[in-house]
Amino acid sequence: MPSSRFDVVIVGAGAAGLMCALTAGHAGRRVLVLDHANKPGKKILMSGGGRCNFTNLASGPANFFSANPHFCISALKRYRPEHFVELVERHGLDYVEKAPGQLFCAHSAKALLDVLLTECEWAGVELRLKTSIERIEAAGEGMRLATSMGRIEAGAVVIATGGLSIPTMGATGFGYDVARQFGLGVTATRPALVPFTLTSQWKARVADLAGVSCDVAVSAVRGGQRLGPGRERRYREPMLFTHRGLSGPGMLQISSYWQPGDELEIDLLPGLDLPAALAEARRTTPRRQLSTWLGENLPRRLAQALVEWHGEDPVLAELSNARIEAWQQRLGRWCLKPAGTEGWRTAEVTLGGVDTAPISSKDFSVEGVPQLRFIGEVLDVTGELGGHNFQWAWASGVACGLAL
Ligand code: FDA
Repeated sequence: MPSSRFDVVIVGAGAAGLMCALTAGHAGRRVLVLDHANKPGKKILMSGGGRCNFTNLASGPANFFSANPHFCISALKRYRPEHFVELVERHGLDYVEKAPGQLFCAHSAKALLDVLLTECEWAGVELRLKTSIERIEAAGEGMRLATSMGRIEAGAVVIATGGLSIPTMGATGFGYDVARQFGLGVTATRPALVPFTLTSQWKARVADLAGVSCDVAVSAVRGGQRLGPGRERRYREPMLFTHRGLSGPGMLQISSYWQPGDELEIDLLPGLDLPAALAEARRTTPRRQLSTWLGENLPRRLAQALVEWHGEDPVLAELSNARIEAWQQRLGRWCLKPAGTEGWRTAEVTLGGVDTAPISSKDFSVEGVPQLRFIGEVLDVTGELGGHNFQWAWASGVACGLAL
């Protein structure tokens, strides 16, 4: 097969790869993007429920997990959410702020992918899909690739193959294998932003609640220590009961802290002083049943399930202060040990990845092999829920693309 030569070959036509490609292309580089999938940007298309939460206006280093929390600072500072907003506005993309700072496509994620592909086309980027890479090796100051489409010579190779989540969408450990081949470490990987599964006992209890959602505050608890963000070490976001267990933004967020064996501590009525509120209701509406009162503060089906789980639904007048305290524990500090998570099948991201220690945080080149670079989720940099992961893909893609 014939051999071809490019200034830059990017492996992975996802968010980071396409952003890097269009940046390097606009800077005058001859760029080829390779992907084994039949379509580019599959995760962009499926993200944010098909509408892609493409950035978060408040995105900053504090929203990321990494063994080296400083690594992401430079790229995030250089390419900020407003830069990406400016790009999509230039293309007339309609977007909405669904939650504070979280920007989503107004109609479909396809419009966002089209922005990237149009920019790639304008920048003269070549895209080859359904192409597998058999070998990558350093060749002098450049790189040589053996692919299912023939041999390719490149001035630089950028690995943008993402993480391990959703293997049916084309996720592979390819980037980690390349890293190891060149002597780089790969920190332990695990699924994150992922729903929890429950033990059979809890699964039976919550089976009828599938579809019920409520606002909670949630922490992970390990050895008596609370784990979570900020001073309070908890996320305050909605929780959703599913047929398999617990999901919704609050659960996805805390999954990044949770490890097998840890408990979850869930406050079902965050922000409510339950003992005071119940004592007041006991005084003003003593004949009311507890389930009725709970149903005004929680979804009715959940309120009903709670009194059934705990085997008591007294009228409020019968609630002694000690019983109110017991309900405070049950509702304010609901502790349960999940069976596990739904794993790679549904996780949005991978925690861990290519060790950033030997990688430049400015241009993403590898120490000792400057013609090899890693960007996006394949690196040990993982964002919280809410548009941060795409912001990292854009920011790392641009920083690398400008330096190629
Ligand atoms: P990405 O995974 O996008 O791209 C990697 C590319 O490499 C793919 O095209 C793949 O086919 C290709 N590839 C892999 N192995 C290969 C191989 N061996 N050879 C050739 N090509 C190979 N984030 C966010 O900020 N907001 C959101 O709304 C969401 N929502 C969301 C929903 C769901 C269901 C998921 C799974 C994920 C999200 N995310 C998200 C996370 C976000 O999608 C993710 O962090 C980025 O897509 C990562 O971008 P990358 O370009 O690094 O990898």
